[in-house]
Amino acid sequence: MGKDVIIACDFNSAEQVFAFLDKFTDTKPFVKIGMELYYAEGPHIVKEIKARGHKIFLDLKLHDIPNTVKKSMAVLSNLDVDMCNLHASGTGKMMEAALEGLTRTDGTRPLLIAVTQLTSTDEETMRRDLLIEKPIDEVVMHYAKNAKNAGLDGVVCSPLEAGKVHDLCGKDFMTVTPGVRFADGDVGDQKRVMTPEQAKEIGSDYIVVGRPITAAEDPVAAYKRCVAEFVG
Ligand code: C5P
Repeated sequence: MGKDVIIACDFNSAEQVFAFLDKFTDTKPFVKIGMELYYAEGPHIVKEIKARGHKIFLDLKLHDIPNTVKKSMAVLSNLDVDMCNLHASGTGKMMEAALEGLTRTDGTRPLLIAVTQLTSTDEETMRRDLLIEKPIDEVVMHYAKNAKNAGLDGVVCSPLEAGKVHDLCGKDFMTVTPGVRFADGDVGDQKRVMTPEQAKEIGSDYIVVGRPITAAEDPVAAYKRCVAEFVG
């Protein structure tokens, strides 16, 4: 499994994202495009970033009936993204349908990973709003197992959960982990963070890093530091 740093390009216009990517002259980082940028600019932003030579994680977190997800995933697959995602709570049938939709006629497909419980949902909220009585760790691991059983490639999770996910689902089941901060950097609004080095030690396969790179004085240097600490 190739370990890599994915930059969360949380910008809301093509202009901003291209101004950012233009700084990278001798390297083409793997980038994450989220809902904000995708909804603002549409599919052409994906094609343009791809045409510049970047790998793309399209973070749209699909969740709908299996048939709708299958057809939508086929559209995303045609955009030639490298990784996309959905909510594991959409059930095993929805995840299987997503994989079918993603698979191109030549048998290739983007990597597909699942969101378990969003990190913005805590146990109390889960119990009150969703009527899920089990401990949140158990729910996260159960959803990870469902994703694995449906044939997905991995999950998005906290670096603190990555080791446990690998124990349960195998080391080839990918963990993609946000919540990464440099040891000497600002934590911002993230609650449970790890340094790139700690994420590496615990076995994360990909780290998703936003502001420590995008808001750095020298984003290219921050990216390179991240890669050096995480990939080695
Ligand atoms: O700027 P920062 O490094 O906090 O960005 C982290 C990225 O990962 C953001 O795009 C955020 O939406 C995403 N993310 C997260 N926590 C999750 C899932 C996704 O921070 N549980």
